[in-house]
Amino acid sequence: MTAPAPSGVDGPATSGPAIEAVDVTRSYDLGGTVVDALQGVSFVVEEGEYAAIVGPSGSGKSTLMHLLGCLDRPTSGVLRVGGRDVLELDDSELADLRNREVGFVFQSFQLLPRSTALDNVGLPLLYRGTKRAERRELAEASLRAVGLGHRLTHRPNQMSGGEQQRVAIARALVGRPRILLADEPTGNLDTRNGAEVMRILEELNAEQGVAVVLVTHDDEVAGRARRQVRVRDGRVERDTALEARPAGPAGDAPAGAGPAAAGEPGARHVAGQQA
Ligand SMILES: Nc1ncnc2c1ncn2[C@@H]1O[C@H](COP(=O)(O)OP(=O)(O)O)[C@@H](O)[C@H]1O
Ligand SMILES: [Mg+2]
Repeated sequence: MTAPAPSGVDGPATSGPAIEAVDVTRSYDLGGTVVDALQGVSFVVEEGEYAAIVGPSGSGKSTLMHLLGCLDRPTSGVLRVGGRDVLELDDSELADLRNREVGFVFQSFQLLPRSTALDNVGLPLLYRGTKRAERRELAEASLRAVGLGHRLTHRPNQMSGGEQQRVAIARALVGRPRILLADEPTGNLDTRNGAEVMRILEELNAEQGVAVVLVTHDDEVAGRARRQVRVRDGRVERDTALEARPAGPAGDAPAGAGPAAAGEPGARHVAGQQA
């Protein structure tokens, strides 16, 4: 599967982190009452990372995912997605960035009910202006990658929940984004289908190198991720990536560790961490 030529947001792909959030806030103004859904969130998601965001209902997880997915903008702070500062982009540039860098998987699948699996998966490519024959070819390859080569012309109501979520994953990945965001991807699935969806996400992360950030209530799902970010009351309460780094002051790499240590994820996380 070849990556389609990037369009819209210009410039070569950067090699920095996939996502960088520094003191990000998001407040909702409900005509007089302000809800501070995110109150200063900082973290970095490196290229190819796999992280689970966990936390109680109302803690700001979906708000955060919408920001990471360029569906919304922070009220304040800095958020870079694929190296671009989202607050510096206008609406159409933000839409381009989202289309190119991010794939989104929702709890409720969000497939077009009247469209076949192929047409659902090809949709992000349609927005990019990819020609029909190439759309079909890439959509088919993406569906095969999630084990749905035998369901190409099925419509959502002709598929199980697990299959529908796999179509949604194929759609999220068809444009070869750098980041896959999944908000409770197993929330509407039974145990077996949920486990299959998790297995596919892990395989795509390992084989295609797409960074995965998923939100989950399920401790078993969270426990399978290499990194857990715990959110509470709009703040990061705990981030296991910060605990995994070697002891010592921030930025103080072990002697002789060389340049690789300077780029070690933990150093960045600490630099952007809230006091
Ligand atoms: N569109 C919105 N308008 C107003 N308040 C919102 C909106 N979306 C979320 N909130 C509020 O922001 C807080 C965080 O919500 P959310 O991000 O959905 O949390 P979670 O996904 O962790 O359950 C909650 O208090 C919620 O009521
Ligand atoms: Mg939510």
